[in-house]
Amino acid sequence: MYYSDELIEDIRMKNDILDVVSGYVKLQKKGSSYFGLCPFHNEKSPSFSVTPSKQMYYCFGCGAGGNVYTFVMQYENYDFVEAVKMLAERAGVELPEESNDAESRRASDLRKMLLEINKKAARFYFYKLKQADGKIGYRYLSDRQLSDETIKKFGLGYAGKYRDELYRYLKKEGYEDNVLRESGLITFDEARGVYDKFFNRVMFPIMDVNSRVIGFGGRVMGDGEPKYLNSPETKVFEKSRNLYGLNIARTSRKPYMIICEGYMDVISLHQAGFQNAVASLGTAFTSGHASLLKRYTEEVMLSYDSDGAGVKAALRAIPICKAAGLRVKVINMKPYKDPDEFIKNLGQEAYEERIQTAQNAFFFEISILEAQYDLKDPESKTLFINELAKKLLTFEEKIERNNYLEAAAEKYHIGFSNLESLVNKFGLQMDPVERREESEHGKKKKDSDSAGEQCQKLLITWLVERPQIYPQIKKYITVEDFNEGVYKTVAIHLFEQLEQNKLNPAQIPSIFPNQEEQSKAAALFNTKIEALEGKLEEEKAVKDIVLKVKQHSIEHLNKNSDFSGVAGLQRILEGKSILQELEKLHISLD
Ligand code: GTP
Ligand code: MN
Repeated sequence: MYYSDELIEDIRMKNDILDVVSGYVKLQKKGSSYFGLCPFHNEKSPSFSVTPSKQMYYCFGCGAGGNVYTFVMQYENYDFVEAVKMLAERAGVELPEESNDAESRRASDLRKMLLEINKKAARFYFYKLKQADGKIGYRYLSDRQLSDETIKKFGLGYAGKYRDELYRYLKKEGYEDNVLRESGLITFDEARGVYDKFFNRVMFPIMDVNSRVIGFGGRVMGDGEPKYLNSPETKVFEKSRNLYGLNIARTSRKPYMIICEGYMDVISLHQAGFQNAVASLGTAFTSGHASLLKRYTEEVMLSYDSDGAGVKAALRAIPICKAAGLRVKVINMKPYKDPDEFIKNLGQEAYEERIQTAQNAFFFEISILEAQYDLKDPESKTLFINELAKKLLTFEEKIERNNYLEAAAEKYHIGFSNLESLVNKFGLQMDPVERREESEHGKKKKDSDSAGEQCQKLLITWLVERPQIYPQIKKYITVEDFNEGVYKTVAIHLFEQLEQNKLNPAQIPSIFPNQEEQSKAAALFNTKIEALEGKLEEEKAVKDIVLKVKQHSIEHLNKNSDFSGVAGLQRILEGKSILQELEKLHISLD
Protein backbone atom coordinates (compact mmCIF):
# COMPACT_ATOMS: atom_id res chain seq x y z
CA MET A 1 0.00 0.00 0.00
CA TYR A 2 1.35 3.42 -0.88
CA TYR A 3 0.57 6.39 1.32
CA SER A 4 1.56 9.89 0.32
CA ASP A 5 4.25 11.76 2.27
CA GLU A 6 1.68 14.38 3.23
CA LEU A 7 -0.63 11.78 4.70
CA ILE A 8 2.21 10.17 6.65
CA GLU A 9 3.26 13.53 8.00
CA ASP A 10 -0.33 14.45 8.85
CA ILE A 11 -0.78 11.28 10.87
CA ARG A 12 2.53 11.81 12.60
CA MET A 13 1.58 15.32 13.67
CA LYS A 14 -1.75 14.14 15.01
CA ASN A 15 -0.03 11.65 17.29
CA ASP A 16 1.89 13.55 19.90
CA ILE A 17 4.91 11.46 20.78
CA LEU A 18 4.63 12.21 24.48
CA ASP A 19 1.04 10.92 24.54
CA VAL A 20 1.87 7.81 22.60
CA VAL A 21 5.01 6.86 24.51
CA SER A 22 3.36 7.62 27.85
CA GLY A 23 0.94 4.82 27.06
CA TYR A 24 3.84 2.40 27.27
CA VAL A 25 6.53 3.95 29.45
CA LYS A 26 6.34 5.86 32.69
CA LEU A 27 7.98 9.22 32.08
CA GLN A 28 9.14 12.07 34.28
CA LYS A 29 9.86 15.61 33.25
CA LYS A 30 13.46 16.76 33.41
CA GLY A 31 14.20 20.08 31.75
CA SER A 32 12.70 20.18 28.29
CA SER A 33 12.60 16.39 28.00
CA TYR A 34 10.90 13.49 29.69
CA PHE A 35 12.86 10.52 30.99
CA GLY A 36 11.98 6.93 31.82
CA LEU A 37 13.32 3.38 31.83
CA CYS A 38 14.12 2.29 28.31
CA PRO A 39 11.65 -0.35 27.05
CA PHE A 40 14.25 -1.60 24.59
CA HIS A 41 17.01 -2.62 26.92
CA ASN A 42 17.39 -3.59 30.52
CA GLU A 43 18.37 -0.72 32.79
CA LYS A 44 17.97 0.48 36.35
CA SER A 45 18.24 4.21 35.91
CA PRO A 46 16.39 6.09 33.19
CA SER A 47 18.31 6.98 30.03
CA PHE A 48 15.35 6.89 27.70
CA SER A 49 14.20 10.37 26.71
CA VAL A 50 11.27 11.89 24.87
CA THR A 51 11.60 15.45 23.68
CA PRO A 52 8.23 16.97 22.78
CA SER A 53 9.78 19.96 21.01
CA LYS A 54 11.56 17.61 18.62
CA GLN A 55 8.76 15.03 18.64
CA MET A 56 11.40 12.35 19.00
CA TYR A 57 12.65 9.80 21.48
CA TYR A 58 16.16 8.66 22.12
CA CYS A 59 17.88 6.32 24.55
CA PHE A 60 21.33 7.37 25.65
CA GLY A 61 21.96 3.84 26.84
CA CYS A 62 21.20 1.70 23.80
CA GLY A 63 20.83 4.23 21.01
CA ALA A 64 17.21 3.39 20.23
CA GLY A 65 15.50 6.42 18.84
CA GLY A 66 13.23 7.92 16.22
CA ASN A 67 9.89 9.56 15.78
CA VAL A 68 6.48 8.27 16.81
CA TYR A 69 6.42 5.78 13.91
CA THR A 70 9.79 4.36 14.89
CA PHE A 71 8.60 3.94 18.44
CA VAL A 72 5.50 2.01 17.48
CA MET A 73 7.48 -0.12 15.02
CA GLN A 74 10.09 -0.91 17.61
CA TYR A 75 7.71 -1.50 20.49
CA GLU A 76 4.93 -3.34 18.72
CA ASN A 77 7.22 -4.95 16.20
CA TYR A 78 5.18 -3.52 13.36
CA ASP A 79 6.44 -2.76 9.92
CA PHE A 80 6.02 0.79 8.68
CA VAL A 81 2.62 0.22 7.08
CA GLU A 82 1.28 -1.41 10.24
CA ALA A 83 2.55 1.54 12.28
CA VAL A 84 0.84 3.97 9.91
CA LYS A 85 -2.42 2.05 10.26
CA MET A 86 -2.28 1.96 14.03
CA LEU A 87 -1.47 5.65 14.43
CA ALA A 88 -4.06 6.64 11.81
CA GLU A 89 -6.69 4.78 13.75
CA ARG A 90 -5.50 6.32 17.00
CA ALA A 91 -5.81 9.82 15.57
CA GLY A 92 -9.04 9.10 13.72
CA VAL A 93 -7.48 9.70 10.31
CA GLU A 94 -9.18 7.85 7.50
CA LEU A 95 -6.79 5.89 5.30
CA PRO A 96 -7.53 5.29 1.64
CA GLU A 97 -9.11 1.89 1.04
CA GLU A 98 -6.43 -0.73 0.98
CA SER A 99 -7.98 -2.76 -1.73
CA ASN A 100 -11.36 -2.68 -3.30
CA ASP A 101 -11.17 -6.18 -4.47
CA ALA A 102 -13.92 -8.16 -2.87
CA GLU A 103 -11.81 -11.24 -2.32
CA SER A 104 -9.27 -9.60 -0.03
CA ARG A 105 -11.99 -7.68 1.75
CA ARG A 106 -13.74 -10.94 2.54
CA ALA A 107 -10.52 -12.51 3.80
CA SER A 108 -9.84 -9.59 6.10
CA ASP A 109 -13.41 -9.61 7.41
CA LEU A 110 -13.12 -13.31 8.12
CA ARG A 111 -9.87 -12.82 10.04
CA LYS A 112 -11.48 -10.10 12.10
CA MET A 113 -14.40 -12.36 12.89
CA LEU A 114 -12.18 -15.29 13.84
CA LEU A 115 -10.30 -13.08 16.29
CA GLU A 116 -13.60 -11.97 17.78
CA ILE A 117 -14.77 -15.54 18.15
CA ASN A 118 -11.54 -16.56 19.86
CA LYS A 119 -11.81 -13.64 22.23
CA LYS A 120 -15.40 -14.46 23.09
CA ALA A 121 -14.53 -18.10 23.62
CA ALA A 122 -11.67 -17.13 25.97
CA ARG A 123 -14.04 -14.96 28.00
CA PHE A 124 -16.57 -17.76 28.04
CA TYR A 125 -14.06 -20.32 29.37
CA PHE A 126 -12.68 -17.87 31.90
CA TYR A 127 -16.13 -17.03 33.21
CA LYS A 128 -16.93 -20.71 33.51
CA LEU A 129 -14.08 -21.21 35.96
CA LYS A 130 -16.05 -19.39 38.63
CA GLN A 131 -19.38 -21.11 37.97
CA ALA A 132 -20.60 -24.03 40.04
CA ASP A 133 -20.06 -26.52 37.22
CA GLY A 134 -16.60 -25.05 36.52
CA LYS A 135 -15.24 -25.41 40.03
CA ILE A 136 -13.52 -28.61 39.06
CA GLY A 137 -11.37 -26.67 36.57
CA TYR A 138 -10.57 -23.97 39.06
CA ARG A 139 -9.61 -26.58 41.62
CA TYR A 140 -7.29 -28.29 39.15
CA LEU A 141 -5.45 -25.03 38.47
CA SER A 142 -5.15 -24.06 42.10
CA ASP A 143 -3.96 -27.55 42.98
CA ARG A 144 -1.18 -26.88 40.54
CA GLN A 145 -0.36 -23.84 42.67
CA LEU A 146 -1.47 -21.20 40.22
CA SER A 147 -2.58 -18.00 41.93
CA ASP A 148 -5.75 -16.12 40.99
CA GLU A 149 -3.54 -13.41 39.63
CA THR A 150 -1.73 -15.84 37.34
CA ILE A 151 -5.00 -17.39 36.19
CA LYS A 152 -6.27 -13.98 35.27
CA LYS A 153 -3.05 -12.84 33.63
CA PHE A 154 -3.01 -15.86 31.31
CA GLY A 155 -6.78 -15.88 30.97
CA LEU A 156 -7.00 -19.55 31.90
CA GLY A 157 -10.42 -21.14 31.80
CA TYR A 158 -12.53 -24.24 31.77
CA ALA A 159 -14.50 -25.90 28.98
CA GLY A 160 -17.57 -27.56 30.50
CA LYS A 161 -18.74 -31.12 30.38
CA TYR A 162 -21.50 -30.68 27.81
CA ARG A 163 -20.33 -31.10 24.31
CA ASP A 164 -21.90 -28.04 22.75
CA GLU A 165 -21.90 -25.26 25.32
CA LEU A 166 -19.56 -23.05 23.35
CA TYR A 167 -21.37 -23.77 20.09
CA ARG A 168 -24.71 -22.74 21.55
CA TYR A 169 -23.21 -19.61 23.04
CA LEU A 170 -21.55 -18.54 19.80
CA LYS A 171 -24.71 -19.20 17.84
CA LYS A 172 -26.58 -16.99 20.25
CA GLU A 173 -23.96 -14.33 19.57
CA GLY A 174 -24.98 -14.56 15.93
CA TYR A 175 -22.15 -16.39 14.20
CA GLU A 176 -22.91 -18.52 11.17
CA ASP A 177 -21.87 -22.14 10.95
CA ASN A 178 -19.54 -21.52 8.03
CA VAL A 179 -17.55 -19.00 10.07
CA LEU A 180 -17.54 -21.17 13.19
CA ARG A 181 -16.18 -24.04 11.11
CA GLU A 182 -13.13 -21.90 10.27
CA SER A 183 -12.49 -21.06 13.92
CA GLY A 184 -11.30 -24.57 14.73
CA LEU A 185 -13.28 -24.43 17.99
CA ILE A 186 -16.29 -26.30 16.70
CA THR A 187 -16.26 -29.65 14.94
CA PHE A 188 -18.80 -30.37 12.23
CA ASP A 189 -19.13 -34.07 11.72
CA GLU A 190 -21.54 -35.66 9.30
CA ALA A 191 -22.18 -38.69 11.44
CA ARG A 192 -21.97 -37.18 14.90
CA GLY A 193 -23.26 -33.71 14.27
CA VAL A 194 -21.90 -30.43 15.64
CA TYR A 195 -19.90 -30.33 18.86
CA ASP A 196 -17.24 -28.32 20.68
CA LYS A 197 -13.64 -29.27 20.08
CA PHE A 198 -12.85 -28.75 23.75
CA PHE A 199 -14.88 -30.12 26.63
CA ASN A 200 -14.08 -30.97 30.21
CA ARG A 201 -10.60 -29.51 29.94
CA VAL A 202 -8.76 -26.59 31.51
CA MET A 203 -8.14 -24.05 28.80
CA PHE A 204 -5.02 -22.09 27.90
CA PRO A 205 -5.76 -19.27 25.47
CA ILE A 206 -2.89 -18.73 23.05
CA MET A 207 -2.17 -15.12 22.21
CA ASP A 208 -0.14 -13.45 19.53
CA VAL A 209 2.47 -10.79 20.34
CA ASN A 210 -0.28 -8.20 20.50
CA SER A 211 -2.23 -10.20 23.06
CA ARG A 212 -4.99 -11.18 20.67
CA VAL A 213 -6.37 -14.67 21.31
CA ILE A 214 -5.66 -16.79 18.24
CA GLY A 215 -6.20 -20.33 19.51
CA PHE A 216 -6.31 -22.60 22.54
CA GLY A 217 -4.59 -25.48 24.24
CA GLY A 218 -6.79 -27.64 26.47
CA ARG A 219 -5.51 -30.04 29.12
CA VAL A 220 -7.29 -33.02 30.60
CA MET A 221 -7.54 -32.81 34.35
CA GLY A 222 -5.55 -35.77 35.53
CA ASP A 223 -4.56 -38.65 33.32
CA GLY A 224 -6.14 -39.16 29.95
CA GLU A 225 -5.32 -39.10 26.31
CA PRO A 226 -4.51 -36.87 24.67
CA LYS A 227 -3.05 -34.86 27.54
CA TYR A 228 -3.20 -31.63 25.56
CA LEU A 229 -5.48 -30.82 22.70
CA ASN A 230 -4.64 -27.77 20.60
CA SER A 231 -6.65 -25.65 18.19
CA PRO A 232 -5.88 -26.56 14.61
CA GLU A 233 -4.17 -23.95 12.44
CA THR A 234 -6.64 -21.40 11.11
CA LYS A 235 -6.51 -18.15 9.18
CA VAL A 236 -5.39 -16.42 12.38
CA PHE A 237 -3.41 -19.20 14.06
CA GLU A 238 -0.06 -20.17 12.62
CA LYS A 239 1.82 -22.36 15.04
CA SER A 240 5.28 -21.78 13.67
CA ARG A 241 4.93 -18.00 13.84
CA ASN A 242 3.75 -17.63 17.41
CA LEU A 243 5.13 -18.52 20.80
CA TYR A 244 3.21 -19.00 24.00
CA GLY A 245 3.95 -16.20 26.48
CA LEU A 246 5.73 -13.96 23.99
CA ASN A 247 3.14 -11.20 24.37
CA ILE A 248 4.36 -10.78 27.95
CA ALA A 249 7.97 -11.90 27.51
CA ARG A 250 8.70 -9.31 24.87
CA THR A 251 8.22 -6.51 27.38
CA SER A 252 10.16 -8.20 30.17
CA ARG A 253 13.28 -6.17 29.39
CA LYS A 254 15.61 -9.06 30.15
CA PRO A 255 18.63 -9.52 27.90
CA TYR A 256 17.67 -13.10 26.99
CA MET A 257 14.59 -15.27 26.52
CA ILE A 258 13.93 -18.62 28.16
CA ILE A 259 12.50 -21.27 25.84
CA CYS A 260 10.69 -24.18 27.43
CA GLU A 261 8.48 -26.98 26.20
CA GLY A 262 5.12 -26.64 27.88
CA TYR A 263 2.40 -24.13 28.63
CA MET A 264 2.60 -24.99 32.30
CA ASP A 265 6.34 -24.35 32.29
CA VAL A 266 5.83 -20.87 30.91
CA ILE A 267 3.12 -20.08 33.43
CA SER A 268 5.10 -21.38 36.40
CA LEU A 269 8.16 -19.46 35.33
CA HIS A 270 6.21 -16.23 34.91
CA GLN A 271 4.60 -16.72 38.29
CA ALA A 272 8.07 -17.13 39.80
CA GLY A 273 9.20 -13.87 38.22
CA PHE A 274 10.77 -15.16 35.01
CA GLN A 275 8.54 -13.22 32.66
CA ASN A 276 10.86 -13.80 29.75
CA ALA A 277 9.82 -17.44 29.29
CA VAL A 278 8.12 -18.68 26.12
CA ALA A 279 7.17 -22.06 24.62
CA SER A 280 6.33 -23.35 21.20
CA LEU A 281 2.73 -24.35 20.67
CA GLY A 282 2.60 -28.09 20.97
CA THR A 283 4.91 -28.33 17.97
CA ALA A 284 8.65 -28.60 17.53
CA PHE A 285 10.71 -25.43 17.57
CA THR A 286 11.08 -24.03 14.05
CA SER A 287 13.17 -21.45 12.25
CA GLY A 288 10.04 -19.30 12.19
CA HIS A 289 10.12 -19.26 15.99
CA ALA A 290 13.82 -18.47 16.00
CA SER A 291 13.50 -15.48 13.72
CA LEU A 292 10.51 -14.27 15.70
CA LEU A 293 12.64 -14.36 18.86
CA LYS A 294 15.54 -12.66 17.12
CA ARG A 295 13.37 -9.56 16.81
CA TYR A 296 13.36 -9.24 20.57
CA THR A 297 16.60 -10.72 21.84
CA GLU A 298 20.13 -11.79 21.03
CA GLU A 299 20.34 -14.74 23.39
CA VAL A 300 18.15 -17.67 24.34
CA MET A 301 18.29 -20.14 27.23
CA LEU A 302 16.84 -23.54 26.47
CA SER A 303 15.00 -24.87 29.49
CA TYR A 304 13.78 -28.15 28.06
CA ASP A 305 12.73 -31.27 29.92
CA SER A 306 15.60 -33.26 31.33
CA ASP A 307 14.42 -36.55 29.81
CA GLY A 308 15.64 -38.08 26.56
CA ALA A 309 12.94 -36.35 24.52
CA GLY A 310 13.88 -32.99 26.02
CA VAL A 311 17.57 -33.48 25.22
CA LYS A 312 16.68 -34.46 21.68
CA ALA A 313 14.47 -31.40 21.32
CA ALA A 314 17.30 -29.19 22.60
CA LEU A 315 19.78 -30.70 20.15
CA ARG A 316 17.33 -29.93 17.36
CA ALA A 317 16.68 -26.38 18.53
CA ILE A 318 20.31 -25.34 18.96
CA PRO A 319 21.33 -25.19 15.28
CA ILE A 320 17.99 -23.55 14.42
CA CYS A 321 18.62 -20.78 16.94
CA LYS A 322 22.21 -20.34 15.84
CA ALA A 323 21.22 -20.09 12.21
CA ALA A 324 18.94 -17.20 13.17
CA GLY A 325 21.91 -15.46 14.80
CA LEU A 326 20.94 -16.15 18.41
CA ARG A 327 23.43 -17.10 21.09
CA VAL A 328 22.31 -20.24 22.87
CA LYS A 329 22.76 -21.71 26.31
CA VAL A 330 21.18 -24.76 27.89
CA ILE A 331 19.73 -24.81 31.40
CA ASN A 332 20.02 -28.05 33.34
CA MET A 333 16.74 -29.09 35.03
CA LYS A 334 18.02 -32.21 36.76
CA PRO A 335 16.95 -33.89 38.94
CA TYR A 336 13.51 -32.56 37.99
CA LYS A 337 11.53 -33.21 34.84
CA ASP A 338 10.76 -29.68 33.73
CA PRO A 339 10.89 -26.04 34.86
CA ASP A 340 7.44 -26.28 36.45
CA GLU A 341 8.49 -29.13 38.73
CA PHE A 342 11.90 -27.60 39.33
CA ILE A 343 10.40 -24.33 40.57
CA LYS A 344 7.84 -26.12 42.72
CA ASN A 345 10.55 -28.10 44.44
CA LEU A 346 13.56 -25.82 44.58
CA GLY A 347 12.08 -22.38 44.09
CA GLN A 348 12.92 -19.25 42.25
CA GLU A 349 16.45 -18.67 43.53
CA ALA A 350 17.62 -22.12 42.59
CA TYR A 351 16.29 -21.59 39.08
CA GLU A 352 18.07 -18.25 38.85
CA GLU A 353 21.24 -20.06 39.80
CA ARG A 354 20.68 -22.57 37.00
CA ILE A 355 20.39 -19.67 34.58
CA GLN A 356 23.70 -18.31 35.80
CA THR A 357 25.39 -21.67 35.35
CA ALA A 358 23.70 -22.55 32.05
CA GLN A 359 25.94 -24.43 29.68
CA ASN A 360 27.14 -23.00 26.43
CA ALA A 361 25.30 -24.82 23.60
CA PHE A 362 28.47 -26.11 21.99
CA PHE A 363 29.64 -27.83 25.16
CA PHE A 364 26.15 -29.15 25.73
CA GLU A 365 26.26 -30.78 22.29
CA ILE A 366 29.74 -32.14 22.92
CA SER A 367 28.81 -33.56 26.30
CA ILE A 368 25.92 -35.45 24.71
CA LEU A 369 28.28 -36.71 22.02
CA GLU A 370 30.85 -37.69 24.61
CA ALA A 371 28.35 -39.92 26.37
CA GLN A 372 28.26 -42.14 23.30
CA TYR A 373 31.96 -42.95 23.61
CA ASP A 374 34.18 -44.62 26.15
CA LEU A 375 36.95 -42.11 26.72
CA LYS A 376 39.02 -44.69 28.59
CA ASP A 377 39.30 -46.75 25.46
CA PRO A 378 41.92 -45.24 23.09
CA GLU A 379 40.12 -46.26 19.95
CA SER A 380 36.80 -44.93 21.11
CA LYS A 381 38.42 -41.74 22.36
CA THR A 382 40.05 -41.22 18.94
CA LEU A 383 36.68 -41.53 17.24
CA PHE A 384 35.22 -39.03 19.69
CA ILE A 385 38.00 -36.52 19.12
CA ASN A 386 37.56 -36.80 15.36
CA GLU A 387 33.89 -35.94 15.81
CA LEU A 388 34.83 -33.08 18.09
CA ALA A 389 37.22 -31.70 15.48
CA LYS A 390 34.52 -31.86 12.79
CA LYS A 391 32.14 -30.06 15.06
CA LEU A 392 34.71 -27.32 15.68
CA LEU A 393 34.84 -26.73 11.95
CA THR A 394 31.29 -25.44 12.06
CA PHE A 395 32.52 -22.20 13.62
CA GLU A 396 33.02 -19.93 10.69
CA GLU A 397 35.03 -17.28 12.39
CA LYS A 398 38.62 -18.06 13.18
CA ILE A 399 38.77 -16.28 16.51
CA GLU A 400 35.64 -17.94 17.74
CA ARG A 401 36.82 -21.32 16.49
CA ASN A 402 40.15 -20.91 18.24
CA ASN A 403 38.49 -19.99 21.50
CA TYR A 404 36.42 -23.15 21.38
CA LEU A 405 39.40 -25.16 20.23
CA GLU A 406 41.36 -23.94 23.21
CA ALA A 407 38.60 -24.75 25.67
CA ALA A 408 37.94 -28.18 24.18
CA ALA A 409 41.63 -29.08 24.04
CA GLU A 410 41.92 -28.25 27.69
CA LYS A 411 38.78 -30.09 28.70
CA TYR A 412 39.77 -33.32 27.01
CA HIS A 413 43.53 -33.02 27.59
CA ILE A 414 44.43 -33.08 23.93
CA GLY A 415 46.81 -30.18 23.47
CA PHE A 416 45.90 -27.14 21.40
CA SER A 417 48.15 -27.79 18.42
CA ASN A 418 47.15 -31.45 18.17
CA LEU A 419 43.51 -30.57 18.02
CA GLU A 420 44.18 -27.64 15.72
CA SER A 421 45.97 -29.76 13.15
CA LEU A 422 43.18 -32.30 13.26
CA VAL A 423 40.64 -29.56 12.64
CA ASN A 424 42.71 -28.23 9.75
CA LYS A 425 43.01 -31.71 8.28
CA PHE A 426 39.24 -32.10 8.19
CA GLY A 427 38.93 -28.58 6.86
CA LEU A 428 41.14 -29.45 3.87
CA GLN A 429 39.25 -32.65 3.21
CA MET A 430 36.06 -30.74 2.75
CA ASP A 431 34.78 -29.98 -0.68
CA PRO A 432 36.21 -26.57 -1.62
CA VAL A 433 32.74 -25.27 -2.35
CA GLU A 434 31.62 -26.46 1.00
CA ARG A 435 34.68 -25.04 2.71
CA ARG A 436 33.68 -21.91 4.41
CA GLU A 437 35.46 -18.75 3.50
CA GLU A 438 37.08 -17.01 6.38
CA SER A 439 34.05 -14.98 7.18
CA GLU A 440 34.16 -11.26 6.79
CA HIS A 441 31.51 -10.25 9.26
CA GLY A 442 33.84 -10.62 12.21
CA LYS A 443 35.67 -7.58 10.96
CA LYS A 444 32.63 -5.69 9.82
CA LYS A 445 30.86 -6.07 13.11
CA LYS A 446 29.76 -2.73 14.47
CA ASP A 447 32.80 -0.63 13.76
CA SER A 448 31.80 2.26 15.93
CA ASP A 449 31.21 5.63 14.34
CA SER A 450 34.26 7.11 12.81
CA ALA A 451 35.52 10.40 14.17
CA GLY A 452 34.12 12.08 11.05
CA GLU A 453 30.66 10.72 11.64
CA GLN A 454 30.83 11.75 15.26
CA CYS A 455 31.24 15.44 14.38
CA GLN A 456 28.64 15.22 11.62
CA LYS A 457 26.22 13.95 14.22
CA LEU A 458 27.11 16.72 16.63
CA LEU A 459 26.64 19.34 13.96
CA ILE A 460 23.20 18.00 13.06
CA THR A 461 22.17 18.00 16.69
CA TRP A 462 23.37 21.58 17.12
CA LEU A 463 21.52 22.67 13.99
CA VAL A 464 18.30 21.26 15.40
CA GLU A 465 18.84 22.73 18.84
CA ARG A 466 20.02 26.14 17.54
CA PRO A 467 18.82 26.64 13.98
CA GLN A 468 20.22 30.19 14.03
CA ILE A 469 23.59 28.64 13.22
CA TYR A 470 22.47 27.55 9.80
CA PRO A 471 22.62 30.86 7.89
CA GLN A 472 26.07 31.45 9.32
CA ILE A 473 27.57 28.18 8.15
CA LYS A 474 25.72 27.36 4.96
CA LYS A 475 28.37 29.11 2.92
CA TYR A 476 30.95 26.67 4.20
CA ILE A 477 29.22 23.40 4.88
CA THR A 478 27.10 21.58 2.32
CA VAL A 479 25.43 18.21 2.25
CA GLU A 480 28.47 16.98 0.32
CA ASP A 481 30.41 17.15 3.57
CA PHE A 482 28.35 14.32 5.05
CA ASN A 483 29.04 10.64 4.67
CA GLU A 484 27.06 8.62 2.16
CA GLY A 485 23.91 6.87 3.39
CA VAL A 486 21.83 7.91 6.37
CA TYR A 487 24.07 10.88 7.24
CA LYS A 488 23.80 12.46 3.85
CA THR A 489 20.09 11.77 3.44
CA VAL A 490 19.36 13.33 6.82
CA ALA A 491 21.54 16.34 5.98
CA ILE A 492 19.79 16.88 2.64
CA HIS A 493 16.36 17.00 4.27
CA LEU A 494 17.43 18.98 7.28
CA PHE A 495 19.20 21.61 5.16
CA GLU A 496 16.13 21.90 2.99
CA GLN A 497 13.94 22.46 6.04
CA LEU A 498 16.34 25.05 7.43
CA GLU A 499 16.55 26.77 4.09
CA GLN A 500 12.76 27.17 4.06
CA ASN A 501 12.68 28.09 7.70
CA LYS A 502 10.51 25.09 8.45
CA LEU A 503 12.53 23.06 10.89
CA ASN A 504 10.77 19.74 11.50
CA PRO A 505 13.28 17.04 12.39
CA ALA A 506 10.67 14.47 13.43
CA GLN A 507 9.55 14.18 9.82
CA ILE A 508 12.93 12.93 8.71
CA PRO A 509 13.05 9.39 10.16
CA SER A 510 9.91 8.42 8.23
CA ILE A 511 11.87 8.84 5.01
CA PHE A 512 13.63 5.59 5.81
CA PRO A 513 11.62 2.42 5.36
CA ASN A 514 13.22 0.28 8.01
CA GLN A 515 13.39 0.78 11.69
CA GLU A 516 17.16 0.46 12.01
CA GLU A 517 17.74 3.33 9.63
CA GLN A 518 15.04 5.36 11.34
CA SER A 519 16.80 4.88 14.65
CA LYS A 520 20.14 5.72 13.10
CA ALA A 521 18.64 8.90 11.69
CA ALA A 522 17.10 9.82 15.03
CA ALA A 523 20.43 9.32 16.74
CA LEU A 524 21.83 12.15 14.63
CA PHE A 525 19.45 14.58 16.25
CA ASN A 526 20.14 13.39 19.73
CA THR A 527 23.86 13.39 20.23
CA LYS A 528 24.73 14.24 23.75
CA ILE A 529 25.97 17.77 23.80
CA GLU A 530 28.22 18.55 26.69
CA ALA A 531 26.83 21.08 29.09
CA LEU A 532 28.92 24.18 28.60
CA GLU A 533 29.42 27.25 30.71
CA GLY A 534 28.01 30.23 28.96
CA LYS A 535 27.43 31.35 25.45
CA LEU A 536 31.05 32.01 24.48
CA GLU A 537 32.05 28.47 25.29
CA GLU A 538 29.16 27.15 23.26
CA GLU A 539 30.01 29.32 20.31
CA LYS A 540 33.56 28.05 20.42
CA ALA A 541 32.36 24.45 20.59
CA VAL A 542 30.11 24.89 17.58
CA LYS A 543 32.87 26.48 15.55
CA ASP A 544 35.12 23.62 16.48
CA ILE A 545 32.60 21.10 15.24
CA VAL A 546 32.04 22.95 11.98
CA LEU A 547 35.80 23.01 11.41
CA LYS A 548 36.14 19.34 12.12
CA VAL A 549 33.33 18.38 9.79
CA LYS A 550 35.07 20.30 7.01
CA GLN A 551 38.48 18.84 7.83
CA HIS A 552 37.18 15.29 7.76
CA SER A 553 35.36 15.95 4.55
CA ILE A 554 38.55 17.20 2.88
CA GLU A 555 40.55 14.30 4.23
CA HIS A 556 37.95 11.92 2.93
CA LEU A 557 38.11 13.55 -0.48
CA ASN A 558 41.89 13.34 -0.41
CA LYS A 559 41.83 9.65 0.33
CA ASN A 560 39.18 8.74 -2.16
CA SER A 561 39.87 10.84 -5.21
CA ASP A 562 42.32 9.50 -7.76
CA PHE A 563 43.63 12.95 -8.71
CA SER A 564 43.41 12.06 -12.35
CA GLY A 565 40.61 14.51 -12.76
CA VAL A 566 41.08 18.20 -12.23
CA ALA A 567 37.70 18.38 -10.53
CA GLY A 568 38.81 16.39 -7.49
CA LEU A 569 41.88 18.51 -7.01
CA GLN A 570 39.85 21.63 -7.49
CA ARG A 571 37.46 20.64 -4.72
CA ILE A 572 40.28 19.92 -2.34
CA LEU A 573 41.87 23.31 -2.98
CA GLU A 574 38.50 24.98 -2.49
CA GLY A 575 38.05 23.05 0.71
CA LYS A 576 41.39 24.24 2.02
CA SER A 577 40.57 27.86 1.37
CA ILE A 578 37.20 27.41 3.04
CA LEU A 579 39.01 25.98 6.02
CA GLN A 580 41.14 29.12 6.24
CA GLU A 581 38.07 31.29 6.14
CA LEU A 582 36.38 29.13 8.71
CA GLU A 583 39.28 29.60 11.12
CA LYS A 584 38.44 33.30 11.18
CA LEU A 585 34.68 32.86 11.40
CA HIS A 586 32.78 33.85 14.51
CA ILE A 587 29.59 31.90 15.05
CA SER A 588 26.99 33.68 17.10
CA LEU A 589 24.31 31.94 19.11
CA ASP A 590 22.23 35.07 19.62
P1 GTP B 1 1.90 -30.75 32.40
O1 GTP B 1 1.89 -32.23 32.40
O2 GTP B 1 0.54 -30.18 32.49
O3 GTP B 1 2.86 -30.15 33.33
O4 GTP B 1 2.31 -30.34 30.95
P2 GTP B 1 3.68 -29.79 30.42
O5 GTP B 1 3.48 -28.34 30.16
O6 GTP B 1 4.79 -30.21 31.29
O7 GTP B 1 3.69 -30.51 29.04
P3 GTP B 1 4.61 -31.66 28.48
O8 GTP B 1 6.03 -31.44 28.87
O9 GTP B 1 3.99 -32.97 28.72
O10 GTP B 1 4.42 -31.30 26.96
C1 GTP B 1 4.95 -30.10 26.43
C2 GTP B 1 4.01 -29.48 25.46
O11 GTP B 1 3.76 -30.38 24.41
C3 GTP B 1 2.65 -29.14 26.01
O12 GTP B 1 2.61 -27.88 26.64
C4 GTP B 1 1.78 -29.19 24.78
O13 GTP B 1 1.92 -27.98 24.04
C5 GTP B 1 2.41 -30.30 23.98
N1 GTP B 1 1.72 -31.59 24.25
C6 GTP B 1 1.85 -32.38 25.33
N2 GTP B 1 1.06 -33.46 25.24
C7 GTP B 1 0.41 -33.34 24.08
C8 GTP B 1 -0.56 -34.13 23.39
O14 GTP B 1 -1.00 -35.18 23.87
N3 GTP B 1 -0.99 -33.69 22.18
C9 GTP B 1 -0.53 -32.55 21.63
N4 GTP B 1 -0.98 -32.16 20.45
N5 GTP B 1 0.38 -31.76 22.24
C10 GTP B 1 0.84 -32.15 23.45
MN1 MN C 1 4.99 -30.32 33.26
